[in-house]
Amino acid sequence: MKYNFNKTIDRTGTDCIKWDYLEAFFGKKDLHPMWVADMDFEVPPEILNPIKERASHSVFGYTAKPMDFYTAVIHWFKTRYDWEIEKDWIVATPGVVPALNLALQEFTKTGDSIVIQSPVYFPFKDSIEINERILLDNELVLRNGHYEINWEDLEQKAKSAEMFLFCSPHNPVSRVWTAQELEKLEDICERNDLLIFSDEIHADIIFKPNTHIPTARLSKKLADRTISAFATSKTFNLAGLQLSINIIPNDEVRRRFKLTLERLHLNMSNIFGITATTAAYQNGAEWLDELLPYLWNNYLTVDAYLKKNIPEITVIKPEGTFLLWLDCGKLGLTDEELASFFLQKAGLALSNGALFGPGGSGFMRMNIGCPEETVIHGLEKLKSAMSDSSQLLPGVEAEDAPADC
Ligand SMILES: Cc1ncc(COP(=O)(O)O)c(C=O)c1O
Repeated sequence: MKYNFNKTIDRTGTDCIKWDYLEAFFGKKDLHPMWVADMDFEVPPEILNPIKERASHSVFGYTAKPMDFYTAVIHWFKTRYDWEIEKDWIVATPGVVPALNLALQEFTKTGDSIVIQSPVYFPFKDSIEINERILLDNELVLRNGHYEINWEDLEQKAKSAEMFLFCSPHNPVSRVWTAQELEKLEDICERNDLLIFSDEIHADIIFKPNTHIPTARLSKKLADRTISAFATSKTFNLAGLQLSINIIPNDEVRRRFKLTLERLHLNMSNIFGITATTAAYQNGAEWLDELLPYLWNNYLTVDAYLKKNIPEITVIKPEGTFLLWLDCGKLGLTDEELASFFLQKAGLALSNGALFGPGGSGFMRMNIGCPEETVIHGLEKLKSAMSDSSQLLPGVEAEDAPADC
């Protein structure tokens, strides 16, 4: 291995939300954090050195995106997703959630219906609500430990919807959608004239034998109705640099998207975001190729540990993402009791499944984007809380479930 993912980096005192803002979010400091969806790994020298070099220049004025930035994006999309994109299709935003809100505001109006598939990354729901659109939930179905789409329900909901917020790969159920599933989606979206916002921020964290298929790569028709959002933020742990990439092949959709971006004067990007994204897409592949088996091994560690020590909790086998979806249903706790058990008894900060909408009840999301030692420490805390509380479950004293991010 060229890179050392076992290295523990002390992130405290850096104002990172995951470690430094536990009290603000959970009302408690002494928690082991496995929540916010960033990783505890340092970025590789291939990305860090260009950032340092840029920083050493010491003048940080308004900066455009050079041709190298676009060439790096185009190269990454071709080599990682077998998708040939054009320079003009690339539109940068300060994040995926801003792009999602922008798309909602530009392409739908107050009172329009938007389809999501819960349990799903909760800013989808928040964005629909804050923009006063109507949420239509095509809830995913858990069958034999595997999440699937309820096609009949989607067929119905699509009839009255304007837009579909698609999460691919899916956070938190960690599905990587297949070509057959995407083809069915295409058919439904086509017949019902739905615009798709395809959030593919987790596209690079895929476990073999799964492969990520960009929604818009499937066909020209699908590309014409899809805004696809990607970023280096999850892949290379660069979320703080706030730069994401939208691929919009359709001229008219892209014109309107860019106009709204310009109206808000959000079309410029952070200097370090540009440098880091370019470097990551140019030279980050080797690091990523070592990261993926490391994350997979973390999953195997969690799975084996739970089977041996805490069989009441099972983990959904992930196809992608560094987020595990733990099924805690057998504990027989309400969502408030479950949240309280993890916080108060186990001293663990995970994301409460209920936050992700219907279907998230009885689940907890665990972030394994960290050294294996950090994962094991979390599991040990969980095990000791289970043995201390065996006669206490169910009925652990409930406290208000905190907000999350
Ligand atoms: C599916 C998904 N979309 C978007 C985001 C956040 O994107 P950004 O920070 O670029 O707004 C996350 C972060 O966890 C995510 O999981």
